Amino acid sequence: MNRQNSSDSAAPARKRLVIATNNNGKLREFREMLSSFGFEVISMKEAGFTGEIIEDGDTFEENAHIKARTVFEAVGIPTMADDSGLEIDFLDGAPGVYSARYAGEGATDKERCQKVLDEMHGVPRELREARFVCTIYFIYDEDDEYSVRGEVRGFIGNEPVGENGFGYDPIFMIDEDESMATISEEEKNRISHRACAFRKLSEILKEKFA
Ligand code: IMP
Repeated sequence: MNRQNSSDSAAPARKRLVIATNNNGKLREFREMLSSFGFEVISMKEAGFTGEIIEDGDTFEENAHIKARTVFEAVGIPTMADDSGLEIDFLDGAPGVYSARYAGEGATDKERCQKVLDEMHGVPRELREARFVCTIYFIYDEDDEYSVRGEVRGFIGNEPVGENGFGYDPIFMIDEDESMATISEEEKNRISHRACAFRKLSEILKEKFA
């Protein structure tokens, strides 16, 4: 009985976990995904991280690892980081890790989409295969690390379609009539590369912490 009373008045402190991103949208998505695992999810700023992260990896995995490792070493708290982008078979995997800056620093989403459309001009449908990829890297402790990869397959359309989403969504067709920018946010959150990576990570967390 006493034990019951004492746990009521002093709930155990939740373990803190940092998300290595400056993107508030991503932070929110991670918070939601992690809500049932009892972590207190904090931003890099809240963790006191003020350093620079140099994302110079050749793959999404390497970049997610660099981000997670840099922050983990600076703050010593379990850290998650993700890296994502678009890979197009016909362009040998480009834009790949350069997805965010494919049309140069400061370019808009529209300009990046147009650059891809120009490069794919005249390429037949069967050679327009593409995928969105998301890798999440989780460092729980010095020698306890996990990496998951989620993908969604589609093809590059002939022109932008739809107003929803962001980035390359309007040119990423999921079937002949729908692009990633014509479907609802709810539907995208069900089928996306990020959703797929989150599902894989949740399985790992369930085994480890549930
Ligand atoms: P990052 O993982 O935030 O660095 O994203 C890299 C880039 O990949 C973004 O700036 C977008 O151009 C692209 N990207 C990543 N995820 C998506 C998506 O869900 N839709 C469209 N573009 C995306």
